[in-house]
Amino acid sequence: MLASPVVLSDLQSVLPPSARVNARGHLEIGGCDAVDLAAEHGTPLVVYDAASIRDQARAFRDALAATGVGGEVVYASKAYFGRAALALIAAEGLAVDVASGGELAAALRAGVPAERVHVHGNNKGPEEIAAALDAGVGTVVVDNHHELDELERQCSGRGHTQDILLRITPGVQAETHHRIATGQVDSKFGFPLAQGAAHAAVRHARETPHLRLRGLHVHLGSQLMDLDVFPAAADVMARFVAEVGPDGLDVMDMGGGLGIAYTPDRRPPSPGTFVDVVAGAVVDAWTARGLPVPRVTIEPGRAIVGRAGVHLYRVGAIKDVPGVRTYAAVDGGMSDLLRPMLYDAVYSPLVAGRADAEATAHYRLVGKHCETGDVLVDDAHLPQLERGDLVCMPATGAYGVSMASNYNGQPRPAVVFAEDGRARLVTRRETLDDVFAREL
Ligand SMILES: Cc1ncc(COP(=O)(O)O)c(C=O)c1O
Repeated sequence: MLASPVVLSDLQSVLPPSARVNARGHLEIGGCDAVDLAAEHGTPLVVYDAASIRDQARAFRDALAATGVGGEVVYASKAYFGRAALALIAAEGLAVDVASGGELAAALRAGVPAERVHVHGNNKGPEEIAAALDAGVGTVVVDNHHELDELERQCSGRGHTQDILLRITPGVQAETHHRIATGQVDSKFGFPLAQGAAHAAVRHARETPHLRLRGLHVHLGSQLMDLDVFPAAADVMARFVAEVGPDGLDVMDMGGGLGIAYTPDRRPPSPGTFVDVVAGAVVDAWTARGLPVPRVTIEPGRAIVGRAGVHLYRVGAIKDVPGVRTYAAVDGGMSDLLRPMLYDAVYSPLVAGRADAEATAHYRLVGKHCETGDVLVDDAHLPQLERGDLVCMPATGAYGVSMASNYNGQPRPAVVFAEDGRARLVTRRETLDDVFAREL
């Protein structure tokens, strides 16, 4: 007889909402036993709780609709641009932001309607612009003057008028890792407000016959837990709109950035709170200056897919360095999960086959790559590990596989979507033939 499932107590907030410990003591996601999934598909394996992606997309959509400000929820596909996820998110009515020709192709292949695609990027190539115009994308978020010129050249050649937003750097500093802060003055993204650069961009866009300026865009940073930066940015932007005149500026896109919990001590704001703070900040700032309130668009990425995904790794070598520490090496690492190395990101692993076992030991959890810096978790508190154990890394759904590489010739992992006890392989594991396919 099956015992009733035990709810994971400590790590529930960092694992997908459907995570449970089943009667075998195994971690279960979307009703699927993680140990069985790893046995069937191999490791490293990425498992998504499909319902969690859908629920987060709906939470943002419904919260924005409830504010009555109009606007769109635009999923930032850089967080994870797998086709199954994009299709699921688009089915909930969200738009999709793409930051390259590759992400544009991913969105179109997933069946995202082109008019719901927003094209980003700080250095869009002429061929990427051409691909976007050929597809008939809804919005291009313009980053610089070269791009205004190139877009105008290509649109006039096609006799097409393109809706655009201008990306502005508001000069506000978000509280997050410096590598994912983007709203500060010293940024490669957008037109700076300093010395009239953003003012000149609005004039340029308004004079350009084949571009229809629909509004402005800011993105302040990623993994934000504190939302105070949004009212500050809205205030800066409303002042700017008052200076350039609100004519045609019907959209204020406030970007993405809502953080998630990577460790159980963190409590991120909910999608509803994020939407209320962001939309409320725009309404207040525009109203205070007597400006017509624009539609408010947001671009969440991490907060839609981050908690939904986990990585599963197999433990290989365990090495005690006497008097120093114990290393436990897994069969992946920086090639499939770069955030610890890039952003000093901290994760909270557990042993999937003994999911309710007490953590009694400390390990430096490392990958298999030829880098000292290939450290997944500097000080992982885990049950005593044995070779062959399956380690689950929660909250890897965003900026995990989307940043994966073939470093050391490592094939990229397979991806499975789990829901209602059924697992669907959505991306097969790379083979060595895939890895070497481009060699001539
Ligand atoms: C322009 C833009 N919008 C949205 C996002 C998504 O951010 P997040 O995943 O933190 O929500 C990013 C991330 O870098 C971005 O650059």
